[in-house]
Amino acid sequence: ATVTLPADAGKTMAVPAEAAPAAVPNLTRDNGAPIGANRNSKTAGDLGPVLLEDTTLIEKLSRFDRERIPERVVHARGTGAHGIFRATADISDLTRASLFTSGKETPVFVRFSSVIHPSGSPEGLRDPRGFATKFYTDQGNWDLVGNNLPVFFIRDAMQFPDMVHSLKPSPVTNKQDPNRFFDFFSNTPESTNMLTQLYSNLGTPSSYRTMDGNGVHAFKLVNAQGKVTFAKFRWISRQGVKNLTAKDAGAAQFNFMTDDLYREVGKGNAPTWDLMIQTMTPDQFAGLDYNPFDDTKEWLDVPFRKIGEMTLNKMPANFFEFTEQSAFAPANMVPGIEASPDRMLQGRLFSYSDTQRYRVGANVMALPVNKPMAPVVNNYQDGVMDGTGSTSNVNYFPAIVQKQAAAEFGQSTYDVNATVDAKPIEKTNNFAQAGIFYRSLSAKDKADLIANLAGDLGQVTSDRTRTIMVSYFYQADKDYGTRIAKAVNVPMGEVTKAVSEYETAYPQQRLTVR
Ligand code: HEM
Repeated sequence: ATVTLPADAGKTMAVPAEAAPAAVPNLTRDNGAPIGANRNSKTAGDLGPVLLEDTTLIEKLSRFDRERIPERVVHARGTGAHGIFRATADISDLTRASLFTSGKETPVFVRFSSVIHPSGSPEGLRDPRGFATKFYTDQGNWDLVGNNLPVFFIRDAMQFPDMVHSLKPSPVTNKQDPNRFFDFFSNTPESTNMLTQLYSNLGTPSSYRTMDGNGVHAFKLVNAQGKVTFAKFRWISRQGVKNLTAKDAGAAQFNFMTDDLYREVGKGNAPTWDLMIQTMTPDQFAGLDYNPFDDTKEWLDVPFRKIGEMTLNKMPANFFEFTEQSAFAPANMVPGIEASPDRMLQGRLFSYSDTQRYRVGANVMALPVNKPMAPVVNNYQDGVMDGTGSTSNVNYFPAIVQKQAAAEFGQSTYDVNATVDAKPIEKTNNFAQAGIFYRSLSAKDKADLIANLAGDLGQVTSDRTRTIMVSYFYQADKDYGTRIAKAVNVPMGEVTKAVSEYETAYPQQRLTVR
């Protein structure tokens, strides 16, 4: 569905002026000592130089000099909110994760984001949107770090840095360039599904409140008896999914998504999402025509059921402290939720905590927004900005006063009988789901998709790259491919030639052409 912006969209939020407290405190330096002069530097006479002994000035400038930390390498532009998750179903048959006890409430922090564009970019630019949720459960933090779209461009973490390089600005001109990212995607046919969804109006949501969220990967759920079930998670917006047309998104005010969230939560219109789950057991995998751990695919025929709901009801008191320093990591899991063999998820398990130890620092997890509600007990110590307040003399293991690992929380075991190798997955089925998505669109949404896609693909100067891209869309759906071919001036003869080349290279794909 597409919508036009509400009349008050983009109006800058009124920030309430702070009421002066009864006794206005005096300024101090960081050491707590009162400041005598905060306007004028200390100089040697009217015409003389500024003195190094002006510790107030030196401290003020040096603190200012250190205000920035590196922005996130992706998902740099975002906004966060606090809320509550309430479990609404008993799923102890699937997982022993304590947060899913029906009726139980768990505090959450959510950060919404765009992906490729930098922290100071307009919020109307086409991009997938991040939807990351940190559940502060009584057994530690669980981070569900997802996107609004249900699938991803690639299926192996090995390709992530290359994909991001192609989408980020050129290292030569510092401008994003469709020639570069379509060069990458024309060599990555599995991206066809996500590209089709991204160039639909889902790529320009009308607000963060009106987006769904998707965990994208399969996760492994383990119940108290050790039984394994694989699951995908999805947030369904109770506000409905609403998107903008490219034209409206282009005209939208710079901060319209952030403003919308502050305005609506600020006036008590707390947005709500239902948490849905899909499940499969390994015996169901054999009948699939795709790999269940391939994140370029949805589990299209698997039903959803509701297991909880989340309401965002409070905006952070300070953007930097909470939103910018928030650190979501797929590796932050709790007993009962484990990683599946999804090759992207496996790479993500490493990458997030790694970047956060660089972006924020070794003690990132001790900051208020990241600190678990559950007590943290281990022998990790020191590092930049340690404020953990440890008073124990025993920082080693084993020891007489032992910090025990509890065997009951050991992870699930599984058998592996395989050859170690680095090779692609077998059931690639790169195009079928893109076709299903295309055919599910209304005539108007199809026309918008073609126009949006042609707007970027039409800028690609290489005939070969445009032809291969069109051949992928054609293999998803003939009508889709034929319309794109026309819109970006690729002769149909060239398209069918590229399809044959593809089918020769990947014979198992033949049956997917509709
Ligand atoms: C952020 C890496 C795939 C969703 C990030 C960050 C990195 C990263 C390094 C910045 C984290 C930070 O500075 O705090 C990767 C790698 C991937 C991958 C290596 C593939 C192997 C994905 C996928 C999704 C996703 C498949 C969606 C399911 C997000 C979100 C954020 C993020 C939502 C922003 C979290 C926040 O709001 O702070 N990613 N990513 N990423 N990624 Fe990924």
